[in-house]
Amino acid sequence: MSNRASDGRVKLELPASSINEGFARVFAAAFAARLDPTIEEMADIKTAVSEAVTNAIVHAYPNGGGTIYITARVIGGDTLEFVIRDKGCGIMDVKQAMEPMFTTGGEERSGMGFTIMQSFMDKVTVSSQLGKGTRVRLVKRIAPRAAGGKK
Ligand SMILES: Nc1ncnc2c1ncn2[C@@H]1O[C@H](COP(=O)(O)OP(=O)(O)OP(=O)(O)O)[C@@H](O)[C@H]1O
Ligand SMILES: [Mg+2]
Repeated sequence: MSNRASDGRVKLELPASSINEGFARVFAAAFAARLDPTIEEMADIKTAVSEAVTNAIVHAYPNGGGTIYITARVIGGDTLEFVIRDKGCGIMDVKQAMEPMFTTGGEERSGMGFTIMQSFMDKVTVSSQLGKGTRVRLVKRIAPRAAGGKK
């Protein structure tokens, strides 16, 4: 614990603006590549991270401004962990927010972001404090592939 930088964690910090969404996707993909995921797994990871980042842009900082903090690391040699954090408005009721089709975003939102994250990742953990911000942890195991083989 004395030197956190040595745990292999990679970090990205970006202004919470939709113009930066692409960076989050590319960051997630570049990091995930080290575990040699399938094309489908890669697409799932990019989509899940992108949903969490979009939420931070749209909901956490509704008036613009703000920063999004993303970290990525490998756990146990075969599992990807992404943590997406914001210091925005927070979520009043996380359990309710994670229900399919629950949204505070009005007509243009479908309320499916958390459901998509859950279906594409093995584990989704959300913690939030009103007025302080939100932390979304996404975990996915990438099954090792036989050398030269297809999955
Ligand atoms: N980072 C966040 N900060 C504050 N509130 C959030 C955050 N992420 C999610 N929420 C709340 O949780 C709700 C559900 O999020 P979810 O991503 O499932 O759906 P959505 O963003 O409303 O719609 P969609 O993702 O389908 O466009 C949001 O409407 C919002 O109220
Ligand atoms: Mg969403």
